Amino acid sequence: MTTDEDGALRFPDGFRWGTSTSAYQVEGAVDEDGRGESIWDRFCRQPGAIADASNGDVACDHYHRLEPDLDLIASLGVDLYRFSVSWPRVQPAGAGAWNEKGLAFYDRLVDGLLARGLAPHLTLNHWDLPQALQDQGGWNARATVDRFVEYALGIQRRLGDRLATITTHNEPWVVAWLGHAEGTFAPGIRSRKVASQVAHHLLLSHGRALQALRADGARARLGIVLNMAHTMPLTDSPADAAAARLDDARGRRWYADPLFKGHYPAEVLAELGDDAPVVEPGDMAVIATPIDFLGINYYSRHLSKASGALLPEDKPCPKTDMGWEIYPDGLRELLLTMHRDYTLPPTYITENGGAFPDPVVDGRVHDADRTDYLAGHIQAVGEALAQGVPMAGYMVWSLMDNFEWASGYAKRFGIVHVDYETLARTPKDSALWYRDLVARCRALREARA
Ligand code: FCB
Repeated sequence: MTTDEDGALRFPDGFRWGTSTSAYQVEGAVDEDGRGESIWDRFCRQPGAIADASNGDVACDHYHRLEPDLDLIASLGVDLYRFSVSWPRVQPAGAGAWNEKGLAFYDRLVDGLLARGLAPHLTLNHWDLPQALQDQGGWNARATVDRFVEYALGIQRRLGDRLATITTHNEPWVVAWLGHAEGTFAPGIRSRKVASQVAHHLLLSHGRALQALRADGARARLGIVLNMAHTMPLTDSPADAAAARLDDARGRRWYADPLFKGHYPAEVLAELGDDAPVVEPGDMAVIATPIDFLGINYYSRHLSKASGALLPEDKPCPKTDMGWEIYPDGLRELLLTMHRDYTLPPTYITENGGAFPDPVVDGRVHDADRTDYLAGHIQAVGEALAQGVPMAGYMVWSLMDNFEWASGYAKRFGIVHVDYETLARTPKDSALWYRDLVARCRALREARA
């Protein structure tokens, strides 16, 4: 599908376009200028943890290439840039002393964005917890909630006068579940009980941070980013329908219900039994502290099957290089479901994109598959908007190819290609398409003004 002028017309004046990255995936320079160790530095060294045995030591070397990378973002003509702060770079032990050189890097990043007319959207926790805090129990320890609030305040005091938004956490489900139940992400723990407690502490630290930041005079809008699939039963059978309802409660409502309704879904609490988290009096009210915006990361639908694991042939749609089904209608349906279930604040798609093989041919990357993916999903956002969902913006994952966690460098999500030998950046065809789409939307916006 190609997006036409009609597609562009659907986006209201306030709607903003951007691209996303995260610190550990792009920065590199893990041992420089006083940065402390993160749990991902440690996890990558576990044999077998990362598909290609790589790590984020160099990544895209963004730390050393800040100015050209900022020019690259600006060349796309987008309105905003979403990035994360590496907590161990700015506060190496996760408590106490701040690292001036690390803070200065983010000063330059924020100022460089503003100088180019780009709105800075900052995430506090995109997974790279200081290892020093992990050594004291990590997110399973309630004390980490206090450390996170101090960290949030420190960042706000340094940068908060210049930020459009502050996101507390990126995808708490991933940190809790992949990091602490399945153990496929840092810190590599395998315990359902720990995972549920981690999820609770992440949500609690979000609410506590929001309250502290507001009491401290927050100027940026404050929110959280949740990953969500559109969950569907594989067949019409009542058993698959029930499986889908439970999967949806585990993945989506476990995070959204507490934020918007102040309680966990009863069916998941029942399923967890003794593994349910310890919740202290007052916690749920703190978690339900109103947010100024919600971020949703959407990649694919989730099919639920009551009997046994899903087989590859159970997933009928075309797939990305990650094996994730390409299902743009799921994004519209998910947004409509969220709009039905909750009173949504302005809502951003904070991540959406696809990994594709992306061969370089004569210095170009003709990634028509990625352009189709993006066009289909942007169309779905437009359809959700037309049905009343308060969509505020859309951000592509990712600005450039980068360290894709346990998949290493083999999976490329960027609209800009990175040559990992030379670290040269080359905009793919999808980047040029996105640039033109954003330019058309901006022209329409300005024509209406
Ligand atoms: C999301 C992460 C992001 C990236 C994409 C592909 O879960 O937030 O860092 O890895 O998936």
